[in-house]
Amino acid sequence: MKVVVVTGSAHRNGTSAYLAQRFIEGASEAGHEVFRFDAAFKSVHPCIGCEKCHRTGSCAFQDDMNELNPHLFEADAVVFVSPIYYYGINAQIKAVMDRFYAHDDRLHAKKKAVLMLTMADTTTESAEGPLASFRGMTSYLGWDIAGTVVALNTGTLDLLENSPYPDQAYLLGKAL
Ligand SMILES: Cc1cc2nc3c(=O)[nH]c(=O)nc-3n(C[C@H](O)[C@H](O)[C@H](O)COP(=O)(O)O)c2cc1C
Repeated sequence: MKVVVVTGSAHRNGTSAYLAQRFIEGASEAGHEVFRFDAAFKSVHPCIGCEKCHRTGSCAFQDDMNELNPHLFEADAVVFVSPIYYYGINAQIKAVMDRFYAHDDRLHAKKKAVLMLTMADTTTESAEGPLASFRGMTSYLGWDIAGTVVALNTGTLDLLENSPYPDQAYLLGKAL
């Protein structure tokens, strides 16, 4: 299976990067081919809704989405890994999702999807918006949700390492 993992955090050794790494370990051990795209270290201009893509077939912004798109088109599974920022996913990963608009037709396909979130909160309140958006987006695109990891009380790497969530991410990757 071809798996694309998109991360949002600018912390290379942060909590969500750690979850992504554990997921990738599980998926790789299961024999899946993983392409990782760390959006915070790429150039992805936010969509401006200019509709050039729908008029001409090509996005107004020629940036690192050109690297990601071929992998997205071929992917059997797409995995999003983000820290929670003010009750939402972070801006870097949202910019990637919004740019799906240019290839909406090709992305309506049979795929699995996973969302993994880290956050300081000890309740699910901060994750409710992102989970609802994820359900909406995947339903719209016709993607099946293969699983979610909502890592509560993981505001630091130390807290995450001493939680059950890295194992959940690993097992989810392995079970894809
Ligand atoms: C700008 C900003 C906003 C945040 N907003 C929230 C929030 O709304 N709810 C929450 O539980 N944690 C919030 N946090 C905490 C982060 O989600 C948490 O520290 C996370 O582990 C960071 O992930 P990272 O290490 O992968 O960057 C916020 C952190 C930052 C920097």
